[in-house]
Parts: sequence; structure tokens; C-alpha cells
Amino acid sequence: MESTDGTAVPTSVSPAVERVELNDGTAMPRLGLGVFQAGVDEAAAAVRTALLAGYRMVDTAAVYGNEAGVGRGIADSGVPREDVFVVTKVWNDDQGYDATLRAFDASAARLGLDHVDQYLIHWPRPRLDLYPETWRALCRLRAEGRVRSIGVSNFAPEHIDRLIAESGTAPAVNQIELHPGLHQGGLRAYHASRGIATQAWSPLGRGQGFLSHRAVAAVAEAHGRTPAQVVLRWHLQMGVVPLPKSVTPERIRGNLDVFGFELDATEMDLITGVGDGYHVGPDPSLLFDIS
Ligand code: A2P
Repeated sequence: MESTDGTAVPTSVSPAVERVELNDGTAMPRLGLGVFQAGVDEAAAAVRTALLAGYRMVDTAAVYGNEAGVGRGIADSGVPREDVFVVTKVWNDDQGYDATLRAFDASAARLGLDHVDQYLIHWPRPRLDLYPETWRALCRLRAEGRVRSIGVSNFAPEHIDRLIAESGTAPAVNQIELHPGLHQGGLRAYHASRGIATQAWSPLGRGQGFLSHRAVAAVAEAHGRTPAQVVLRWHLQMGVVPLPKSVTPERIRGNLDVFGFELDATEMDLITGVGDGYHVGPDPSLLFDIS
């Protein structure tokens, strides 16, 4: 098989990305490409590069403004659609039952896809008090087969418990900020108790200096790996699904090459010891009061 420019395409099942089974029976890759703040053309190029390197999951969102680029990148790669796990998210302005159904149609159209593998509520916005209705729309989309798996992002336990109580359906994932400066220990334990997988946004700490921390550098040097690779390995060994963002081909490829080595307990502790409680993006617990 060949992509549109004649490059050989890896076989349909990527050996590089193992999968984890979610609570809804869906198999999700253990690592995916993030495209936050990438323009449409940048996203298209990054997605194509990633898929040709062996990635099989891409995480976007309506508010990123680059769903059309993600769709183009998938098409340009030549990788079969059914082999790619596409995640997108409904934005705050489109919360509510009917608005979410319309927003999904618009996202699918921009992506150029008839179904999406995973659809998430981007933020709970509890002051709007619409997230249970938004969730009802996601449940319908899944029942109709337009979405294979549904979940949430930036949700606290109280919001997830309410969804479960009112709908009887638990989210498959909660996508949260998580990196060596913010471990989310309490939330990860809660997820485990409900069978919810943890996806990490900004798993590298969004260039805020965690990759150059001496502990990370020491672990990287011991393995002959890059700081980003040992941090991604730290996520995988905690059972977290990291979504590193990059538009740089060399980094995109390097960030996937994390399945052939293992950190020991001391090295895991060294990376955990970098710090905790440092947010590089909006802190949901602060936003809850104003949203
Ligand atoms: P770029 O997209 O220019 O390659 P996060 O996923 O934690 O939010 O981090 C994203 C940021 O980290 C982006 O600025 C991205 O830059 C950069 N980045 C991604 N991969 C690597 C890497 N392997 N080494 C260093 N920086 C990286």
C-alpha cells in the first residue's frame, strides 16, 4: 500500500502502538498525537507524518479549529480509516442535547468522516448545568453508531458520578492535564475505581521546563533516550494514555518510540519527584467557580 505521494504505508495493524480495552469494549491505542494550537495545514502534515510513523490515534477538538486538517492528514496518509482512532470534543458553547447533536454533525463534516471513534465533552461547565444533557446526546450518538466510544475531559469526580447516576453510563475516559509537574493521583485513583481510562493532555508539560529538569535528564541519559521519551514511558507505566502534541516530524517519530524500554521503580520515583500541583493550562477546580 502507498500514501498519496508514494510513501510506503505501514501494515494495517501498527506494531508500535499497543491498545488498551476501555469499559465500553473499545480498543484504544495507548498513545496518540495531540494537535492543540496547530493550524489546519500544520495539523494535516503532523497527522500524516504521525500515521506514517505508526501512530494510530489523533486527538483534536472543535475549538482547536483544525479538524479539517486532521481529516486531510488521515486521507493523505493512505492508512485505512478503520485503523485510525479519531478523538474530538464538543465545545462549551455547544453544550445541551440538540446543540451537541448539531455540533457533532459539524465536527464529522469538517473531519470528512461518517463516524468518530471517541467523542468527549471538552469541559463540564457546571454553572451552565448542561453537561448531563450533553452526555445524553453523546449516549444517543453512540447508540446510533456515529461514535464508537464516549467520554469527558477536565471533569471532577462529582461531575462523573452525576453522569453515571443519571444515565447509567460511565465515561470510557477522562482526559486531564497530567505531566511530571502534575500527577493527578487522586483523580487517577478515582478513575481506577470506576473503570475509567485516564488520557493526559500536555503530557510533556507544554514546554514549561519539566523536560530539562535534572531528574528527567538523568533518567534519559541512563537509557540513551530523550527526556520526552522517558516522560512518555513514565505515563505508560502508570497506565496513563499520553497525547503528546508536536508538529515537528523528528519529535513526532521520537515520541512514539517508547515501547521498547522500561523504567525501574527508582526511575519512576525520580520523575514523579519533579514536582506536583503545577498547572500549564487552565485549572478546572478554579474555572468551576466562574464557568
Ligand atoms: P512542537 O509542536 O513545536 O514540536 P505537550 O504535549 O505537553 O502540550 O507539549 C507540546 C509542546 O512540546 C510543543 O511546544 C511541542 O513543540 C513540544 N514537544 C513535543 N515533543 C517534544 C519533544 N520530543 N521534545 C521537546 N519538545 C517537544
